[in-house]
Amino acid sequence: MRHAVRVDAEPGEQTAETVRQLRALATPDGTAALSRAAALLADGVDAVAALTRLRAEVGTDLAGPAWGIARQREKARPAFGADADRLLFTSDALEQAGRPELAARRAARLLAGGADSVADLGCAAGTDTIALARAGARVLAVDVDPVARELTALNVEALGVADDVWVVAGDAVELVAAARGGEVAGCGAAVLDPARRAGGRRQLDPDRWSPPWSTVVTLLDRVPTSVVKVAPGLDHDRVPEGVEAEWVSVGGSIVEALLWGPAVATTWRRATVVTGGQVHELTADADPGPAPAGPVRAWLHEPDPAVIRSGLISLVAAELGATLVDPTIAYLTSDARADVPWVRSYRVDEVLPFNLKKLRALLRERGIGRVVVKKRGSAIEPETLARQLRTDASGTATVVVTRVAGAPTALVCDVTG
Ligand SMILES: C[S@@+](CC[C@H](N)C(=O)[O-])C[C@H]1O[C@@H](n2cnc3c(N)ncnc32)[C@H](O)[C@@H]1O
Repeated sequence: MRHAVRVDAEPGEQTAETVRQLRALATPDGTAALSRAAALLADGVDAVAALTRLRAEVGTDLAGPAWGIARQREKARPAFGADADRLLFTSDALEQAGRPELAARRAARLLAGGADSVADLGCAAGTDTIALARAGARVLAVDVDPVARELTALNVEALGVADDVWVVAGDAVELVAAARGGEVAGCGAAVLDPARRAGGRRQLDPDRWSPPWSTVVTLLDRVPTSVVKVAPGLDHDRVPEGVEAEWVSVGGSIVEALLWGPAVATTWRRATVVTGGQVHELTADADPGPAPAGPVRAWLHEPDPAVIRSGLISLVAAELGATLVDPTIAYLTSDARADVPWVRSYRVDEVLPFNLKKLRALLRERGIGRVVVKKRGSAIEPETLARQLRTDASGTATVVVTRVAGAPTALVCDVTG
């Protein structure tokens, strides 16, 4: 059974055409066209030749859309695995899609308290909707965009969870404004993932997200079993009282930031670091304050960006017996190497005031011809400096350019050869 409410409002011509094409791809002929496009893509046939062959084999109507979806599926495969070959994405929807493994983690946490119906407010291609349905919830998938609704309706069908999903046209701003008794649109829980791009550009101001910040705050206030995806750069001052803010990194890069409503929140801030498939969580029930600063010691530690963004560096400093190299710089230093997921450690071999001539002379003296440059609190361009320091010598090193007690400083680390 598939439940889909379609809007009566007139979508733009392009939108109507995209919806028509998506529906055509969901027919048996469309499925055959998609398989053929995937095969041509896998064979490395270039776009012009592939489209010519597809037009001849599956018709002009299906050729272009099938080729477009095959290319999106190829892009989606690293994150979505085998599901990618059954899902439909427009490039816009794929760009906005979160990682499915993180959507599953979010869904499990949101539902752990017993909620069984969830409103996915802004479903796009349905990544969160699918994760919530797979976690056992009944999901009301809402979007203002007819293409998003069509994608979600087709994707939940393709992955066999359509019986638990209702795809509806709706404005999350209005639905949240009408939320009462801990529910929104009749659901006891909600996921809100505002669009944070417009015209291909990132919207840094949360008031310009869609839905805007005011809807985020109202949802967290009125629907305590809720989670909102926000920009990783969100100012801590914006996080409402009683709401948990979590920053998640995968492989050393921030991938998402979340605000958990009061019924799900269990702490003040959380840094979640995913490395090598392992999930590590660092939490604080209250602001731990800044870490102390001190002189550079034998090891330099670069905190994971989730630790930095969540404001939990001082917890890591205390665990490692470490200090900051400068009160304003997120590098830690201690006497020992650290074996924790929160930092990456570098052995400090040389410390000198930053000066290109002196740095070059030192590297020459130590037989170092290739360096990786890292920087924090400096205007230098790492790639340019690495090129400027390159010679034929066989040794390697990591050069960290930063401020130490306010002074521009170079730290030569992990020298080999
Ligand atoms: C960032 S995307 C959601 C991505 C989705 N959670 C995923 O991981 O695939 C935001 C979605 O919200 C929708 N949207 C924006 N403003 C909305 C509003 N006021 N009401 C409902 N949906 C809205 C957009 O059309 C878009 O599909």
